[in-house]
Amino acid sequence: MTIPTPTVNPAAVEHPPLPGGLPDPATLASLANAFFSALPGGKSGVSAPVVASPDVSAGSGATGGLPSALPAAAPILASVSNPAPAGSPLAGPGGTGTGVPGFAPPQGKAPGLNLAPSAPTHVLSLGNRAPALAPHAAAANGLPDSAVSIAPALEPRAGGALLGVPPVQEAASPTHAPPATPAATGPSPFYFLHGAQNGWHGRAQDIDVPVHGHGQGQASPQAFGLPGGDVLRDLVVFEPRSVGVPNVSGVSGESARYFVDEREAAVPHGLKSSAHPPFDVNAVRRDFPILQERVNGKPLIWFDNAATTHKPQAVIDRLAYFYAHENSNIHRAAHALAARATDAYEHARKTVQRFINASSPDEIVFVRGTTEAINLVAKSWGAQNVGEGDEIIVSHLEHHANIVPWQQLAAQKGARLRVIPVDDSGQVLLDDYRKLLSDRTKIVSVTQVSNALGTVVPVREIVELAHRAGAKALVDGAQSISHMRVDVQALDADFFVFSGHKIYGPTGIGVVYGKREVLEAMPPWQGGGNMIEDVTFERTVFHGPPARFEAGTGNIADAVGLGAALDYVSRVGIENIARYEHDLLGYATSVLAPVAGVRLVGTARDKASVLSFVLKGYTTAEVGQALSEEGIAVRAGHHCAQPILRRFGLEASVRPSLAFYNTCDEVDALVAVVRRLASRR
Ligand code: ALA
Repeated sequence: MTIPTPTVNPAAVEHPPLPGGLPDPATLASLANAFFSALPGGKSGVSAPVVASPDVSAGSGATGGLPSALPAAAPILASVSNPAPAGSPLAGPGGTGTGVPGFAPPQGKAPGLNLAPSAPTHVLSLGNRAPALAPHAAAANGLPDSAVSIAPALEPRAGGALLGVPPVQEAASPTHAPPATPAATGPSPFYFLHGAQNGWHGRAQDIDVPVHGHGQGQASPQAFGLPGGDVLRDLVVFEPRSVGVPNVSGVSGESARYFVDEREAAVPHGLKSSAHPPFDVNAVRRDFPILQERVNGKPLIWFDNAATTHKPQAVIDRLAYFYAHENSNIHRAAHALAARATDAYEHARKTVQRFINASSPDEIVFVRGTTEAINLVAKSWGAQNVGEGDEIIVSHLEHHANIVPWQQLAAQKGARLRVIPVDDSGQVLLDDYRKLLSDRTKIVSVTQVSNALGTVVPVREIVELAHRAGAKALVDGAQSISHMRVDVQALDADFFVFSGHKIYGPTGIGVVYGKREVLEAMPPWQGGGNMIEDVTFERTVFHGPPARFEAGTGNIADAVGLGAALDYVSRVGIENIARYEHDLLGYATSVLAPVAGVRLVGTARDKASVLSFVLKGYTTAEVGQALSEEGIAVRAGHHCAQPILRRFGLEASVRPSLAFYNTCDEVDALVAVVRRLASRR
């Protein structure tokens, strides 16, 4: 079955002239104002000029909430009852408001202006919410469609605060510093970062901004036509506060939503025996609009989380808000949007710092993802510190991204790659590792969780042994970051790397954490703008880290989106996630393993998320295809980890990989398909 996708004429989205003779934005704004000011009386006072349909080729409103054609102006305005406040990125058609692509009236300026047709971001918002409004969108868990993401549209600028997840105080390790409160940073804390921890902050503070009720040289949100400070603070700094969710758990505070009384919770069977408060997976699922999608006529079941994770509405809205209100290049320009974008980006850096408990935001370098992160370390630290006859140690479990850059370095330098073997369960053999270490070892680079087998590797011990041998240590956190608490200071790794898209954030953004003293001693790996203090034709003076490693314009918006994702995970609580996923993986293993012909690949005692297997009589592609026909997404193949699969005599496996929005019912659906296949051979 083909799902109708709303499509919008790009010309209509991007620029005037408006299609079909629509009035210009100013006229529409004045119509809207007149209409708005007439409310709540019976007559709008607006005569009804003829407004032709915009070019919205979208199927029908029934398929996704987009109007296929707009009636005359009076009906447009008369239909407006959008409860979203002026300027809200979601004040659009997914609610009951406007949403005519092709207009981009100023946002957040005056009451009622959002009644005018909306900007392209509103189309995005519509797409997000449409499934919740369409009758086909039944959740796999039987939740009513209408439960999904309607209420959050009331105030998307609050990010996650009203988007389903209560702002639960992060279940932080004691070493985590609490987030800085806005009060501590002055009246406009997010436009001008205080302090000068890295090369840019001083300049951002120097930007001349309008005086608007605050002291000279200080920005106020209102000066930029944005809503007041409280709303923006909610967007960028999440503080614990009630969002009106009833406390049904009996436990105090705002954590009620995800930890409901067992009598009321829709707890998946198989998990009820847990001694812990039940985790309300249905509440989590409502935060992820894509989980309402249907594939091949079936509810989507996403078991490809090791490849990428889906995004909560809070992340989607944060990205839309950035492009609607903050978009600019950063660190350089002397204008207000540069200050907003710079602050949003640097705030995200601090969020990452807190999330992994780095000691300073200067230890956080933004890159495209884990692959680029490891390449950065290999090409900068490696080129400087690895020489002929030196050794680099990796484990047999590694993803190609943690093999190939080191192989390239070894080939360039005449160094050697050594490999920690694994046992038949897929766990690394620490005794063999000890024997590999010597004074020739320069760096040990290991994954924390195997993407192909799910093995949780004892990285703390591996790092400590590396240090004892005088080597540096890199931990690849691509597959661990979303499943367990990461504390880089406790881990003591010199580098920790991960990708945003594996932890409910955007693609194209990732992180290198490096110990400050290690990063400071490293040369840049790419040259260009943004990373220099001074350039002449004779020489260049580089910034310190992290700027030194961020040449050119980075992925600003997605860094901000990553910050929103980490905030979201923190509000749910990473320990709560880990516990739920642990139980879910245990359940999945217990029902899949006994199926005739199934061979699990990777049976280590400590595992996270991944349940690799092969099925006798079928290729992995055949199993993947059969699952896909039932709407179940898994990866089938070599998972970019050929050496470890070959260790088990395989070229490929079927790899369901779980996240905290998956359920036992979904596991049952997968196992039913495997059983059916097994019974045919
Ligand atoms: N590294 C990703 C995976 O394991 C792409 O599927």
